[in-house]
This record gives sequence, C-alpha cells and structure tokens, in this order.
Amino acid sequence: MSVTVRVPAKVNVQLGVGGLRGDGFHDLANVFFAVALGDEVTATPAAPGTGTTLTCTGPDAGQVPLDDSNLAARAARLLAAHHGIEPDVHLHIAKDIPVAGGMAGGSADGAAALVACDALWALGTPQETLLALAAELGSDVPFALLGGVALGRGRGEILEALPVTGTFHWVFAVADGGLSTPAVFHECDRLREEAGTGSTDTDVPTPDADPALLAALADGDPAALAAALTNDLQSAALSLRPALAATLAAGTEAGAIGALVSGSGPTCAFLAKDAEAAEAVAAALTASGTCRTARATHGPVPGAAVRTG
Ligand code: C5P
Repeated sequence: MSVTVRVPAKVNVQLGVGGLRGDGFHDLANVFFAVALGDEVTATPAAPGTGTTLTCTGPDAGQVPLDDSNLAARAARLLAAHHGIEPDVHLHIAKDIPVAGGMAGGSADGAAALVACDALWALGTPQETLLALAAELGSDVPFALLGGVALGRGRGEILEALPVTGTFHWVFAVADGGLSTPAVFHECDRLREEAGTGSTDTDVPTPDADPALLAALADGDPAALAAALTNDLQSAALSLRPALAATLAAGTEAGAIGALVSGSGPTCAFLAKDAEAAEAVAAALTASGTCRTARATHGPVPGAAVRTG
C-alpha cells in the first residue's frame, strides 16, 4: 500500500535577515505562511536492497534533481538511518510548487517524504523527532511539517506557531528560471558591505518579528498585513534579477494591496483583499508578460499530512 502526503508551499510575510554567522548561515526573524499551492509525495514499498528511488512529474519536473541532492530522497535515508532500517522505498513527487522559486518547494518535498516514509514503515516517530530530522535536512523543512503561520528564529528552524484569524488571499507570479538561495544571501551580504554597514553578525543586529505584522495576522486584517510585508532579501533578489521590479509593479497596478519577493525569489507574492480580487490580479499578471504564469491561492493551510480519501 502506498502513502501519499500533501505538503504546502510557503511565503515569508516577514523575512528579517541578520548578519552572516561563522557557520555560513544568517540569523533570521522569519514569519512563514503556508499556502494552498502544494506538492504531493507518494511513498511506495520497494524490494529489499533497492534503496531509495525517485520520480517526478509536473510542469517543472525537468528542473527537479533526481540525484542524492534531492531533499525527499535524503529525508527517506535520514529517517531510515535514525531507526536503523534500510531505506527501501520508491518516492514519486507530483510537483506543483515552482522549482528554485523562493517558496521552499524542495524543503516541502523533504518534509512530505519524512511523513510518508514514517507512515509507510509504521515507525510512529514523535513529531519532536521529525522536526529535529527536518532541521538537519534544511532551514525551511521544519516549517513544512508544521504549516499554518509560524515565526522561525535561528536559521529559520526554531519555530513558534503564531495565532492567525481567517483566510488571506494570495497571488504568486512565477518567473522563468530559479534563483539560488545561497547566491541571494551572498548578494545581500555584498550589498551590505557596499553600503558600508558591514555584513557579519557583529555588524548587523539580530532581527525581531514586527509587532504590527503579528497583530495583522492575529486580527485577520489583510490591509494591515499588506502594509507590514517585508523581505530583507528583496533588494538582493532584485539586484540579481532586475526584471522582478516590473512584475511587482504589474501586480500592484492590477489591484494587489501588498507585493513582495517570496523568500529568496524569484517568485513574487501579492496579497489581495479577497478571492475575487486575487483571481483578477492573477489574470492581469499573466496577461502582463512580466512573469511565466500567475496563480491565485489562499492560506494559511496545515503542514505535511497523509492524504485520506
Ligand atoms: O538550510 P538550507 O540548506 O536551506 O540553506 C541553503 C543555503 O542558504 C545555506 O547554505 C546558506 O547559504 C543560506 N542560508 C543562510 N541563512 C539561513 C538559511 C539559509 O545564509 N538562515
């Protein structure tokens, strides 16, 4: 019997980036928000000695690495090693999250594989342990397990669930081609050096969550959330991909109440006042020619979970 897990993409409604640490990471105040756009990972039993094998379908499937760097395969092996069992499983990724788009699609697949293999192998791993294994896989993987809205501190892996009211309506403008997350963090450091502020964790104060943003989420107030959206990686993403400025402008002109680059980009995220406005913004963005495609969706939604029915 196969197990299919559905897992959400994320947008960062606040991405506060501190200085570069000695270990190559940056301390963050990272407010993750899980949206209904997501991937599905199916784990199917494989014969003993087969190891972990991987296939992928979806519009961007050709860009998904199917080698050892794939976080879903690494997740299966990590979980198996933790329990001292063989990682014999076939994983199929039905990919809908843009690849290298700043929406944590690879991380989502890692989280989904942990949950799918845990169920397939009937391991009953406690959530706390799954979160620790997820943090080993990458900074954004624990949030994909949790879902909802959460503040991530440290490199983003130390999570605190945040209160949120109602549903927010989003549009995502998907660019042609991805951006490398390390390259965008590196560009952020370079721009800080160029500006003379310094870029290390002794130069840049540790960021904190914005109280106005937390209140907007708790109150379910899209206009207040739109006004509070910030991303410290946005100038770096725009520096590497100047064309994104036209995408952000096109969404705002089309009636979005808030606009920002999603995570390290190049996907741009737009907040709309309601579902109808989100559909209109998505249609206008698609017609604008400033992105490959635009998708209306909503959130928050739960984290990685076995699909039933
Ligand atoms: O944790 P993850 O493997 O997703 O991180 C990818 C890269 O992004 C890191 O190697 C680092 O260059 C950068 N990064 C960072 N600070 C963070 C998270 C990621 O500099 N908090």
